[in-house]
Amino acid sequence: MDVEKYWQQFKEELSSVKNCKELENLRLKYLSKKGIIRELFRKLKDLSSLERKKVGASLNNLKGKIEKEIEAKSKTFAKEKAPSFFDPTLPKLTLKKGSLHPITYAIEEISQIFAKIGFTRTSYREVEWEYFSFETLNMPKGHPARDDVETFFLEYPEDKKLGRLLLSPHTSSGQVQEMIKRGKPPIRMINIAKCYRPNWDTTHTPMFHQFEGLCVDKNINITHLKGTIDYFVKSYFGKERKIRLRPYDFRFTEPSFEIDITCNVCSGKGEVNGKKCRVCKSGWLELGGAGMVHPFVLKSGGIDPQKYSGWAFGFGIERVFLMRENIKVEDIRIFYSGDLRFLSQF
Ligand code: PHE
Repeated sequence: MDVEKYWQQFKEELSSVKNCKELENLRLKYLSKKGIIRELFRKLKDLSSLERKKVGASLNNLKGKIEKEIEAKSKTFAKEKAPSFFDPTLPKLTLKKGSLHPITYAIEEISQIFAKIGFTRTSYREVEWEYFSFETLNMPKGHPARDDVETFFLEYPEDKKLGRLLLSPHTSSGQVQEMIKRGKPPIRMINIAKCYRPNWDTTHTPMFHQFEGLCVDKNINITHLKGTIDYFVKSYFGKERKIRLRPYDFRFTEPSFEIDITCNVCSGKGEVNGKKCRVCKSGWLELGGAGMVHPFVLKSGGIDPQKYSGWAFGFGIERVFLMRENIKVEDIRIFYSGDLRFLSQF
């Protein structure tokens, strides 16, 4: 293999290079993955081992020399290219600024609102056991309430105690885990996490976010639940907003409620200029679920329901965000579509 021949050939070609582009082409010709040098290295395998060493060394040497020459030549072009004077009339370079995702802002804000009243921010696993998502929440196997919470199950060997693995369908999966982690009340938790349910339409994304409040201590009652949610609603939505508790049914709270908030379009009146409010129809918008923690759940978390009581709520973040910004999106999936026309507004 005549390595020297390639060196001569390279030098000749280099001498006729006139600009950066030609230089780059030359570099690719010799040094790229499909270039001459690589090709020559590939041929080494056909040589005897003695020769391979020798030729290999001179090929390495050739490669080094070519790299150096190209580097040196490119510097001469760089000099030529540099503008000889400062031209203030040139348009500026526009660098696009990124921003945090609107849901990230909302998570930050919600965490801060609850931090002010002593709630510790946590988040629990996205891949969870049936045990924490259902069993310990008073939803035993085969119970119809379990079907209400549609769930993604994972293909994984079932555990005798913990059951199957799944994608956590709600942040309530963190309730009993927080009780176990703390060991003993008082507990004030704000659990913010991704949740998953197999729905995909204009009002559902298979991944969404919830924030879950949990408070357990001696003598906790519904007024504390109502007061805390009222505080959150006034901090997040504005002082003029009111809430109401509407009886509902969850297996893990007793009594259970759905929380409604007054509509900001009609100020809770249900009508605008004598016509039914288009947004709420009734003066109220639904915020999410809440209730007093069921004794079964306290026991699952090792807490004596005779001594302690607690409340919990769970709201969707995408939902509260849209409600506050007063944005009617036709399709909630826009949050996760990567569409900058939407995202860059926040
Ligand atoms: N986990 C319930 C849901 O996802 C909400 C909830 C949380 C209800 C806490 C009561 C108490 O719908």
